Amino acid sequence: MHRAWVLCLLVPLVAQERALPTTHVAGRDSVDSVRLVVHTDSARDTISRHIYGQFAEHLGRDIYDGFWVKGADKQWHLRADVIAALRRIKVPNLRWPGGCFADTYHWKDGVGPRPQRPKIVNSTWGGVTEDNSFGTHEYLELVDRIGAAPFIVGNVGSGTPQEMAQWWEYVNFDGVSPMADLRRRNGRPRPWGVRLWGVGNESWGCGGNMTPEYYADVYKRFVTFLPAYGQTRPFRIATGPASEDYRWTEIVMRDAGRMIDALDLHYYTVVGTWAKKGSATDFTEREWFLALEKALHVEELITRHSGIMDRYDPQKRVALIVGEWGLWHDVEPATNPAFLYQQNTLRDALVAAVSLDIFNRHADRVRGANIAQTINVLQAMILTQGDRMILTPTYHVFEMYSVHQDARLLPLTLVGGPYELEGRSIPAVSGSASLDKEGRIHVTLTNLDPIRARSVSAELRGTQVSRVSGRVLTAEAMNAHNTFEQPDAVRPQAFTGARLAGQRLTLELPAKSIVVLELQ
Ligand code: AHR
Repeated sequence: MHRAWVLCLLVPLVAQERALPTTHVAGRDSVDSVRLVVHTDSARDTISRHIYGQFAEHLGRDIYDGFWVKGADKQWHLRADVIAALRRIKVPNLRWPGGCFADTYHWKDGVGPRPQRPKIVNSTWGGVTEDNSFGTHEYLELVDRIGAAPFIVGNVGSGTPQEMAQWWEYVNFDGVSPMADLRRRNGRPRPWGVRLWGVGNESWGCGGNMTPEYYADVYKRFVTFLPAYGQTRPFRIATGPASEDYRWTEIVMRDAGRMIDALDLHYYTVVGTWAKKGSATDFTEREWFLALEKALHVEELITRHSGIMDRYDPQKRVALIVGEWGLWHDVEPATNPAFLYQQNTLRDALVAAVSLDIFNRHADRVRGANIAQTINVLQAMILTQGDRMILTPTYHVFEMYSVHQDARLLPLTLVGGPYELEGRSIPAVSGSASLDKEGRIHVTLTNLDPIRARSVSAELRGTQVSRVSGRVLTAEAMNAHNTFEQPDAVRPQAFTGARLAGQRLTLELPAKSIVVLELQ
């Protein structure tokens, strides 16, 4: 006997929103059909565009040989095709310089004339030489050209409050001061106005192996010396918990919550074990299922960490951001294990889609997220090889979902058959919906089942629409991916499976597909 899944996503019921297994009622919901109600009259929260943030670390080929390359003239420059591609997905912010690297980084090494910058060892990621040719000015030019906000993570682990305060002064102070004068001498008259400011990274691990009690005190000490300069106030982002570390959230919120603007949860989806994670491209249906099941787990993490935050911050002033997330596979064969280079298939795209749907649906508390990482590292948007560049299936999800940025969340209810494998069960269809400033409704829906299509019968409660259009991302094989030889094997196509009759919308969601609909 199959079970039906009820996924009730009404905002007031946030704490109860987990998919609840109920008994299947024969004759009401066939296992292959799903009922969707979009409550267009209940918009409340705004989906922050910062949920669609990116992350670039001095790791492997993300910065060097990714964003920052040497031309034929042997000079370093920012890669224009990469910047153009990232502009298309409307990157709202770019987290930098790490990651674990952030707590080893001394920012003064990366300013001033490039030939005079010290060459150091990147002991976190492979012991390679870091020539510091990409530093503060280069990063801020990059985000400016992408059209993204800067998000700098300061060094708490091996740095000092003075070093962090001086970096803050360097990028933000307009008057006469030692750091503002140094910035001017380095060619930048005006401050940049950087607001998003991480105070350490994973301070429970690579950022210093601290207890939450100790970190809370250290955090307060560091942020005390980040004053407002003119209109620029810091948006102070504290190291948040690793996955299920609820105690971290409890103690840090209790002891430092009043001085925190956002808490940075990190959660990676690992299909196997950390020692043997599994291949990005060579996997079974079981591993497909496990990836999605583990990705969906972030909803429980968000709900429970938010619940703890609610006790100290019932007004939800403090945001929860998911500052590192994504699928972490074994590296591609014959690549440097410390460089974390992995391919990216349709499975990665579905993990991205269901994760973004979850973040959207928790827009009341989740007001930022950064997928790890942008280029050539982990679940990347872009892979490069020499002068060539390919867009991954995950990139296409970010492009399709960009319609939700800064739109108002529309609660939705999904009721339907599950996707089951070997006695385990997850909802077959995931989704989120929003209303943009032009009055357009966008609905993103994912069919997690790699074998069977789902038909969706949708009701748009509280509005009249007369037009529907859409796009779909899917492929024949679960492991379909783009290569330098076939860069467009997986890319969005026009979606022809939607029919509108009055206020009733019916859809045929192909197996293993992601659909974005626009309704007007
Ligand atoms: O994204 C790779 C690494 O994963 C980051 O440097 C670190 O913060 C996390 O553990």
